Amino acid sequence: MIEQNNPFSIQQDSPLKDALKNDIRRYWNDKQPGQWYSKQKTGEKEYYDDIDYKRYNIFSPYIPKIAEFSEHKGEKVLEVGIGMGLDLKQYSKNGAICYGIDLTEGAVNKAKRVFEIYGLKAELQVMDAENLKFDDNTFDLVYSMGVLHHTPNTQKAINGICRILKPGGKAIVMLYSKSWQHYVIRVFYAGIIGRELFRMSMQELINKYSEAYGFSPLTKLYSRKEVKSFFTKFSQVDVSHWHYKVPDKNGIMQKIKSLKNRKYLQGNWVIKAIK
Ligand SMILES: C[S@@+](CC[C@H](N)C(=O)[O-])C[C@H]1O[C@@H](n2cnc3c(N)ncnc32)[C@H](O)[C@@H]1O
Repeated sequence: MIEQNNPFSIQQDSPLKDALKNDIRRYWNDKQPGQWYSKQKTGEKEYYDDIDYKRYNIFSPYIPKIAEFSEHKGEKVLEVGIGMGLDLKQYSKNGAICYGIDLTEGAVNKAKRVFEIYGLKAELQVMDAENLKFDDNTFDLVYSMGVLHHTPNTQKAINGICRILKPGGKAIVMLYSKSWQHYVIRVFYAGIIGRELFRMSMQELINKYSEAYGFSPLTKLYSRKEVKSFFTKFSQVDVSHWHYKVPDKNGIMQKIKSLKNRKYLQGNWVIKAIK
C-alpha cells in the first residue's frame, strides 16, 4: 500500500516531510484547477463567472451532486484545500456558514477575492490539512475536493477531519483512484512506449502526469480498499467512483483529442462518511 512503503508518502514529521511540504506549497501557490477555463481578465467577476460556468456545466458537472451544495443551509461547513474557493462559494450562496483553509497563501488570497466579488462571507485561512487548528466537534460538514492525495500523510488529515466533525457530522472527500486508465495511460503509454519507467519510478511517473500543469510534487492514487481503510474511525462510509467528463460540445474530434489527454481519464473516489 502506497501510504506505507512509498518514500513520497511520509507518516512521521521529519525534515524530509517538511521539504516535500514546501515543494507542495510552492507548486500549488499559483496553480489552481480551472484557471485556464477563462480568457477574461484574471481576478474580475467575468473571469470567475466564466470558470464557474465551465466547472459546473462542462468539465465537472457532477460536482454539485457530490458536494450537496444546497443541502447544508445553516450548517457549519469547512472546506479543506479551497483552491480558488469556488465550491465553498456555492455552499455560502446556499446559506451555509462557511470556513475554508488551504496550505498556500496564493489560494487563500484568490478565494478571499472571490468571496469579495460575490459579496459573500467566509473565514478563510492558511492552514495545513494535516494540522487542523479547530476544536473537536465543530463542523456539520467537512468537504475536500481533490486535495488529500497531494499531502504526505493523508491518514493524519482524515483523522483530523473526523475529530473536528460534530457527532453525526459528514465528511465528503474526493481522492484520485488507481484505475485501469492509470495503467494504460501512465504506465503503458508514457512508461513503456515512452520508456519513462526506465528513467523514473512509478510514483514519479504519476506525479509527472497526474495534473494539468504537470510535475506535481506528490500525487497519490488509491484502490477502493485503501480508501476505505482511511475512514475506519467513521460510523458509516459510502465510497463511489466518478470520472472527469470529456467535453463534447465541439463534436467527435474534440472527444478524440480529449481522450488522448490523460487528465480526462483520471478516475476519482468520492467518500461520504458520517462520524
Ligand atoms: C488540485 S487543488 C484543488 C483545489 C480545490 N479543492 C478545487 O477543487 O479546485 C489542490 C489544493 O490543495 C491544497 N493543498 C495541498 N496540500 C494541502 C494541505 N496539506 N493542506 C491544505 N491544503 C492543501 C493546494 O494548495 C491546492 O489549493
